[in-house]
Amino acid sequence: MKTIVVYKSKTGYTKKYAEWITEELGCDIKENAALSDILNYDTIICGGGIYAGSMNGGKLITKNLGKLSGKKLILFAVGAMLDEEKDTVPFWNKQLTPEQQKSIGHFFLRGGFDFSQLKGADRLMMSMIKKHLEKIKEPTDEDKGFLAAFSEPVDFTDKKNLAGLIEYAKNGGTV
Ligand SMILES: Cc1cc2nc3c(=O)[nH]c(=O)nc-3n(C[C@H](O)[C@H](O)[C@H](O)COP(=O)(O)O)c2cc1C
Repeated sequence: MKTIVVYKSKTGYTKKYAEWITEELGCDIKENAALSDILNYDTIICGGGIYAGSMNGGKLITKNLGKLSGKKLILFAVGAMLDEEKDTVPFWNKQLTPEQQKSIGHFFLRGGFDFSQLKGADRLMMSMIKKHLEKIKEPTDEDKGFLAAFSEPVDFTDKKNLAGLIEYAKNGGTV
């Protein structure tokens, strides 16, 4: 069984998880892959950061399901939010239909935030959020933590977060 990990990563967090998965499974890896790069594989694991509620690069799988039928498909989305069902369930409902959620393995992995590496529209959007946070008179702990992350990158990546995905890639089973 041939397996490949494909990913898109703007600030390195998805890349780190993609490399850990590749080490663990002893499989191939490719950044910014095209459809032609993945057609020869039986298992395709596709990762990307979450930007404004959408997974970067997930369309490689979701827009090509017809051409990928019969393969084991796994998505992993890397975001700064906490791994809590109140946030991850609506997130996945936006990326995948209920039918797709039954056949495509999908995992949320906590990444981090590195303002210093952001460019273009992402940097602009985050600069606006920073200004908004600075104006809040009584910031919550969450607001304070978010604001602090603008001066010092935060990294919540952890190999332990991959246990479910690795198990699913090896044996299938429940998502
Ligand atoms: C413009 C922007 C929007 C973001 N939106 C979300 C979001 O909706 N949910 C979330 O959990 N994280 C969000 N994040 C945080 C990123 O998902 C997080 O930094 C992730 O680790 C990036 O992974 P990457 O460096 O591999 O691209 C956002 C970050 C930026 C810069």
